[in-house]
Amino acid sequence: MGKPKDRRGTPTARYTPTAQVLHWLIALLILVQFVLARMAAPLPLGAHKLALLAEHKSFGMTVLMLALIRLAWRLKNLPPSLPAKMHRVERFLARFTHVSFYILLIAMPLSGWLMSSAKNYSVSWFGAFTWPNLIGPNETSFNFFKTLHHFLSNVLFGIAALHILAALKHHFWNKDDVLARMLPDLRSESQFRSEDKSP
Ligand code: HEM
Ligand code: HEM
Repeated sequence: MGKPKDRRGTPTARYTPTAQVLHWLIALLILVQFVLARMAAPLPLGAHKLALLAEHKSFGMTVLMLALIRLAWRLKNLPPSLPAKMHRVERFLARFTHVSFYILLIAMPLSGWLMSSAKNYSVSWFGAFTWPNLIGPNETSFNFFKTLHHFLSNVLFGIAALHILAALKHHFWNKDDVLARMLPDLRSESQFRSEDKSP
């Protein structure tokens, strides 16, 4: 497989706008998910808690749909290559983190959906429609998927912390373009043109 190419046929130096939009939208939704879950956790079972969890489930199912789109898109589009001077341990860690994210972005919502199904709690999408139950009511399955959902949320938290620290290290310590290429290119076309002419 060759390097990814942009519209001018040159290897891409940064993530494409599609990859960036999906990356930051999903990152924001993950943050929302943790905030909603944190707000709901201490509340007694009642209307307020159920309303927060309904939002949590709707946003969670949105993450599932976006993650599937992102994964399909990613399998067809190569990311820009990592800086050449990166150590192989760092390369391994980057790959491990990214693969873990893709797995977790699907496993997290799926375990939540299975948890709700096992208790016969409906999973609506912002009131627009209701997702079907994946399994029948079963207390053992409910407890299993609840424990799994909590466990995976801790793993996701740890991986995200590693990922964010790595992005900041690249930017402030290594001073390379790893963070910049996941951000929109704010340079003007004329700057591009003058760069193109440089030797
Ligand atoms: C990326 C998606 C998701 C993330 C990051 C996420 C994260 C979390 C977290 C951090 C908690 C609190 C765990 C704790 O108390 O330690 C939680 C609880 C919960 N989540 Fe999710 N979740 C996601 C998707 C879903 C989905 C799709 C559903 C259901 C369709 C769901 C249903 C629940 C429920 C019902 C609880 C409360 C469980 C309890 O009673 O303690 N989650 N989630
Ligand atoms: C929990 C939220 C986040 C998730 C789930 C997430 C997920 C991902 C994934 C899956 C990739 C790999 C893209 C690919 O090549 O397919 C990636 C790349 C990247 N992410 Fe995140 N991310 C999150 C938050 C952040 C934050 C807050 C930052 C910045 C501080 C960040 C900075 C980056 C950078 C710079 C890359 C490119 C790495 C490279 O070029 O290899 N991410 N992210």
